[in-house]
Amino acid sequence: MTLKRPFQLGSLTLPSNIFCAPLAGCSDFPFRKMTTSYQPGLVFCEMVKMDALVRYDPHTLRMLDYEGGMHPIGAQLCGSKAHLAAKSARIIEELGFDVVDLNCGCPVDKVTKDGSGSGLLKNPDLIGEIISNIVSAVKIPVTVKIRAGWDEDSLNAADITSIAEKAGAQAICVHGRTREQGYSGPANWDWIKECKKEAKTIKVIGNGDLFDAASVEKMFQHTNCDAVLIARGTFGQPWIIEDTYLRLLGLSPKVRTGLDYRDALLEHLAHTISYQPERKVITDMRRVGCWYLKNGHGTKKLREALNHSKSIAEIQELIVSYPWESTSFTT
Ligand SMILES: Cc1cc2nc3c(=O)[nH]c(=O)nc-3n(C[C@H](O)[C@H](O)[C@H](O)COP(=O)(O)O)c2cc1C
Repeated sequence: MTLKRPFQLGSLTLPSNIFCAPLAGCSDFPFRKMTTSYQPGLVFCEMVKMDALVRYDPHTLRMLDYEGGMHPIGAQLCGSKAHLAAKSARIIEELGFDVVDLNCGCPVDKVTKDGSGSGLLKNPDLIGEIISNIVSAVKIPVTVKIRAGWDEDSLNAADITSIAEKAGAQAICVHGRTREQGYSGPANWDWIKECKKEAKTIKVIGNGDLFDAASVEKMFQHTNCDAVLIARGTFGQPWIIEDTYLRLLGLSPKVRTGLDYRDALLEHLAHTISYQPERKVITDMRRVGCWYLKNGHGTKKLREALNHSKSIAEIQELIVSYPWESTSFTT
């Protein structure tokens, strides 16, 4: 069986069923330039708040910047006010997005305190109402991203799958952790499998602990999910998408050398320079540099130096003069 295949989302045909996750503070324009060059089936921007979007807040609109080569692209709405859902979704559609998603997974207190993000898991009927409002407002496919439940005592992902299906969502992405778990501990893929069993027409997208091509293949086999959403696994290895395609097609993996990491880091830097002012480039490259270097042996000094660099020129010099040829990486 070929596991890489076009993915039908309502009337939209996506090129594959390997997707890149919404990642607040991370899946910005330069990051998406990197991941989309490996042609995922769908890529998401960072989540945006409905309240801010309906005010056309400039910072929020900037988080939704994209360019033609990033299609198919999804935007994700975060909010719990059902009356803002339709207007927010219409703005997303007018901006040219291919998919609109509802965030029911963000665990951060300041998001959940008004019932948004994973706070919605406590109110499945409201999830249904918000999805219905979005579905009636737009023509693009509507998806929802949830966690397994608020905590181990309230695992309700399968119920929400059915509610989302009835409300008209085309797909549900299930992160195999509870809100209580945050991002720690292993994801439990059995919970994704349960949602897939519950789903009649809605597609199920598996998420959680997909850090290499082998884990993606295992996710498909374990859960029978229709698609996967790779999140932290894209950090510092945007080629995980290509690696996954090769594996699912039964082709030999590509060996990534130190020079490949250098070239990717320089490319990510170039995209960041084109998009951000210098002071932001300097702080962003601390995070980005760590991603590309975390699996490199003996790269601690370079990471530290990047963390203390004061200019773009200094960052470039540090990267270019590093002995990448003799640096090995574990994946
Ligand atoms: C830094 C960071 C930011 C995230 N931002 C979002 C977000 O904006 N929207 C969302 O639905 N999930 C967000 N997530 C959750 C991921 O999309 C994903 O569900 C989670 O990391 C589990 O996948 P993983 O174990 O493969 O990383 C974020 C996760 C991280 C680590």
